[in-house]
Amino acid sequence: MNRILITGASAGIGAALARAAAAPDVDFALWGRDTLRLSSVAGECRARGASAGSRVMDLRDAGAVAAAIVATDEAAPIDLAVFNAGIGGVSLGRDGLEDAAHALDVATVDFVAVVAGATAVARRMAARGRGRIVVVGSVADRLPLPMAPSYAGAKAGLLAFSRSLRGALARRGVGITYVAPGFVKTAMSDSAPGPKPFMLTSDDAARRILAAARAGRAELAFPLPYAILRSLAGFAPRAAAERAASAFAPRR
Ligand SMILES: NC(=O)c1ccc[n+]([C@@H]2O[C@H](COP(=O)([O-])OP(=O)(O)OC[C@H]3O[C@@H](n4cnc5c(N)ncnc54)[C@H](OP(=O)(O)O)[C@@H]3O)[C@@H](O)[C@H]2O)c1
Repeated sequence: MNRILITGASAGIGAALARAAAAPDVDFALWGRDTLRLSSVAGECRARGASAGSRVMDLRDAGAVAAAIVATDEAAPIDLAVFNAGIGGVSLGRDGLEDAAHALDVATVDFVAVVAGATAVARRMAARGRGRIVVVGSVADRLPLPMAPSYAGAKAGLLAFSRSLRGALARRGVGITYVAPGFVKTAMSDSAPGPKPFMLTSDDAARRILAAARAGRAELAFPLPYAILRSLAGFAPRAAAERAASAFAPRR
C-alpha cells in the first residue's frame, strides 16, 4: 500500500490517518477544501519521509469526482483509497426539522461523492488486479436518528454500497473495508450537541482504521460498546428501534 488517496485529509480522522500512514515509502494524494490545513498535513507527512501531493476539491460537486479520481490514479496508481470526507453535525431549523440545503450537502458529500469516487477507483484497481478501498461510515448506519436523518441515511447507504461493491470485486483482487466509528474527537463531533460517551481520539481511530485496512478486514465497528449497540440495532424490530430512538427526536 504505497500510493494512498485520502479524502477529507485536511482535518480530524483524515489528517490523523495521513500522519499514521506516513513513512518514507508512501506517496499520498491528500484531498480537502481548506488549502492551509491541507498543506500543513502534507508538510507533516513529508517530515515523516513520505511524498505528499494535495488537491483542493469540494465534494459537493460530485459530478467532478470520477474525473478527479482518474487524474489522481493516472499520475500514479492508487493502492489504497480512503473515502473519509464527510459532513456531520445536526442542522435543524427553528421548527425542529432538518434544513433541506444541509440535507442535500450531506447526501452529496457523504454518499453520492463516495459512490462516484469508489466506483471510479474500483474500475482502475480491478483492471490492475489489486488495491483496497476504505469507506468511512458511522455506527449511525443502522440507527434511526431523528435529529440527523440525512446523515443516518447516507451512512446506511454507504454500508449497503460497500457490501454490494465487495461482491462485485470479490474475484478481481480488490478489497473493501467498511468502517463504522462511534464518537471521535474532531470538529465534527465538537459541533454535535449532547453527551458523547466512549469518545476516542482521532489518532486512536486512525490506528484502528489503518490496521483494519492492512489486515484486509471487510468491516470494523468501534469502540466495542457501539459495535454491540449497532449489532443489536441490526436485529431489533423496526418499531422497537424507532421507539428507542424517538427519545432523541428534536422538540420544537
Ligand atoms: N467524528 C466523529 O465522531 C465521527 C463518528 C463517526 C463517523 N465519522 C466519519 O468520519 C469521517 C471524518 O469525520 P471527522 O470527524 O474527521 O470530521 P471533520 O474533522 O469535520 O473533517 C471532515 C473532513 O471532510 C472534509 N470535507 C467536509 N466537507 C467537504 C466537502 N464539501 N468537500 C470536500 N471535503 C469536505 C473536510 O475538509 P475541509 O475541512 O478542508 O473543508 C475535512 O477534511 C466522516 O465521514 C464522518 O462521517 C466521524
